[in-house]
Amino acid sequence: MNDNLFDQSYKEEEFDKNIRPETLDEYVGQKEIKENLRVFIKASKLRNEALDHVLLYGPPGLGKTTLAYIIANELGVHIKTASGPSIEKSGDLAAILSSLEEGDVLFIDEIHRMPRFIEEILYPAMEDYVLDIVVGTEGNTRNIRIDLPPFTLVGATTKAGDISSPLRDRFGIVEKLNYYTTEELTSIIMRTSRVLNMPIDLDAATNLATRSRKTPRIANRLFKRVRDFALVFGDKKIDYDLTMNSLARLKVDDYGLDSVDIEYLEALIKKFNGGPVGAATIATSIGEEVSTIEDVVEPFLLQEGFIKRTQRGRVATDLAYEHLKIPKKNK
Ligand SMILES: Nc1ncnc2c1ncn2[C@@H]1O[C@H](COP(=O)(O)OP(=O)(O)OP(=O)(O)O)[C@@H](O)[C@H]1O
Ligand SMILES: [Mg+2]
Repeated sequence: MNDNLFDQSYKEEEFDKNIRPETLDEYVGQKEIKENLRVFIKASKLRNEALDHVLLYGPPGLGKTTLAYIIANELGVHIKTASGPSIEKSGDLAAILSSLEEGDVLFIDEIHRMPRFIEEILYPAMEDYVLDIVVGTEGNTRNIRIDLPPFTLVGATTKAGDISSPLRDRFGIVEKLNYYTTEELTSIIMRTSRVLNMPIDLDAATNLATRSRKTPRIANRLFKRVRDFALVFGDKKIDYDLTMNSLARLKVDDYGLDSVDIEYLEALIKKFNGGPVGAATIATSIGEEVSTIEDVVEPFLLQEGFIKRTQRGRVATDLAYEHLKIPKKNK
């Protein structure tokens, strides 16, 4: 991507770790989810049982991974992590499962990308805390069953639709994360500013919040960029003017659309006459990965009403034409 607001580089991960809230109280917004989790966590502790398996889904950067760590922290247990595509062999899963201690959280990110046969090994593990594996060599194999300690599987996915229904049905708690309000994002930015020890004025934080695509990850990244400008220009705090100047330099507009969004919309309108056109075609024409377009760019453009999804492909809305100040041709 030519703009690295979405980069998952190592440094970004370190940065994420530092500013990640660690308790439900610190976790901003998602009120219903927090209330539910508080009850379920408390009940599981009272019963002295592992918490039911939890599936968290929603667009990137809304706080699924953060919440998984918080759940383990609130339960007072360890967390082991894996990601769907990284579990390739049954032995990989067996190794992770047999390393768990009673009550632990196993967090599987991108759980929709787990191979189907791995999923099938997971079913009895989720339901009865047992692992059925085949040992031995060809012609001389036998099935053995290993008991596992009770544990909680926390699965996260940006694509709930891609999860098979047998897997989905085995989660007792299923929660969808929603986009954040400006107030919530403002409070996330104020918190990050405290943690990183770089004060920001409230009006500046609010302005950043409105351009963060309703997403905490982006709010924090914008904050970080503006902090760089403050540092270079020797300002001891971030004020409104500095924020406006920095955002202009970063080419983030009032809707929070960045250069990739704009390129996408321009291609859709200018090259494809406003659509309908397929995501893959647009992706190729602007030199982006289809997955970036489908997972990151389009969800926000759809949600904000800049594009519509039709059976024949993506279509630019009137709002997109207005925003880019391109007159709509009669087709
Ligand atoms: N509710 C929240 N309160 C405060 N900060 C948050 C909240 N949600 C997310 N964040 C911040 O946003 C960053 C991104 O969140 P996180 O990595 O948990 O998102 P995600 O949903 O797992 O994204 P992905 O789908 O890309 O894995 C975190 O580093 C965290 O600091
Ligand atoms: Mg995550």
